[in-house]
Amino acid sequence: MPYKITLLPGDGIGPEVIAAAQEVLRALPLELDFAYAEIGFGAYERLGTPLPDSTLQAIRAADAALFGAVTTPPNLPGYFSPVVRMRQSLDLYANLRPTRSIPHPSSRPGIDLIIVRENTEGLYSGIERVEEDGNRAITERVITRRGSERILRKAFDLARQTGRTKVHVVHKANVLRQTCGLFRQVALEIAPQYPEIEMLEMLVDTCAMELVRAPEQFQVIVTTNLFGDILSDEACMFVGGLGVAASANIGAEAAVFEPVHGSAPPLVRTGKANPTATFFAAAMMLDYLGETESAARLRTAVETCIAQGLVTPDLGGALTTSGMTEQIKCRLQNDE
Ligand code: NAI
Ligand code: MG
Repeated sequence: MPYKITLLPGDGIGPEVIAAAQEVLRALPLELDFAYAEIGFGAYERLGTPLPDSTLQAIRAADAALFGAVTTPPNLPGYFSPVVRMRQSLDLYANLRPTRSIPHPSSRPGIDLIIVRENTEGLYSGIERVEEDGNRAITERVITRRGSERILRKAFDLARQTGRTKVHVVHKANVLRQTCGLFRQVALEIAPQYPEIEMLEMLVDTCAMELVRAPEQFQVIVTTNLFGDILSDEACMFVGGLGVAASANIGAEAAVFEPVHGSAPPLVRTGKANPTATFFAAAMMLDYLGETESAARLRTAVETCIAQGLVTPDLGGALTTSGMTEQIKCRLQNDE
């Protein structure tokens, strides 16, 4: 049975990097059935919504989805973030952000950590209001036992599956006593079920500092929504930056893989968009599908290109998006 993959190109450089990823995926010995679905500002202009129901259905019906990026229009009434809505509608509760050294002078060596971020609640609950004629604004930070338990289990299971030995539970329970307190409490309850894994607690501000000081110390970081958003952007700067960082959004019934970067409007049709982040997202997708050998081959091919300087200008190279894609395709086809 071929795998059903839904591609969500989106806006800006999204379609360019998704087309590149589709090409390298086709160079692997896998049976993949691709379908396309609409998302983003372009979808809004064509269809009146940035996230049509048909797109959500196409993601649910597929084995996995690969998403490019979307452009956020300024101050458009009735517009909503299709990315946040997609994560909530499909209950994609786990946002996985690996940070791994690449063979490049700009990358610090010895880093191989993964940030596991809760993706549906916390300060991104969407529950907001204003009071006192707009002079007092309130956002509710929602933490549930169920939401905490499933993300913490995801982190400990991932550590176990990948042979890691430490999980840092990152919170601010000394100040956010109720919300972070519950998250921490659930972590303390679950950790003993993973006796081979050491659970360490760290306050989020300390973690931000330690990530800069000594990122090599971390293996898995698990945390709530906003903290994870900030820490994962911070972490990717050690290993090549936005052109390289990939992420996964995983739920019980669907999974969407994406580069971390946005639609980078100034790069559109310049050939300067680095497809690496989307290639690494595609490799995460293959791991999720159980195709670990193909995932490893794709990663190796990309890393070989990087090591040889066959990269786009953001990494100091002279190749275009399609030039880099060709290089990787050749390597995948030749080592068959
Ligand atoms: P951005 O990620 O698009 O660009 C930030 C910087 O990184 C720019 O200098 C850009 O040239 C560079 N960059 C990004 N991707 C690159 C790549 N593949 N290769 C080489 N360089 C790359 O973020 P920005 O400029 O803040 O936002 C642009 C648009 O993207 C906005 O409309 C924003 O709302 C949207 N956005 C969408 C996201 C998503 O779809 N998940 C995430 C972040 C922003
Ligand atoms: Mg972010």
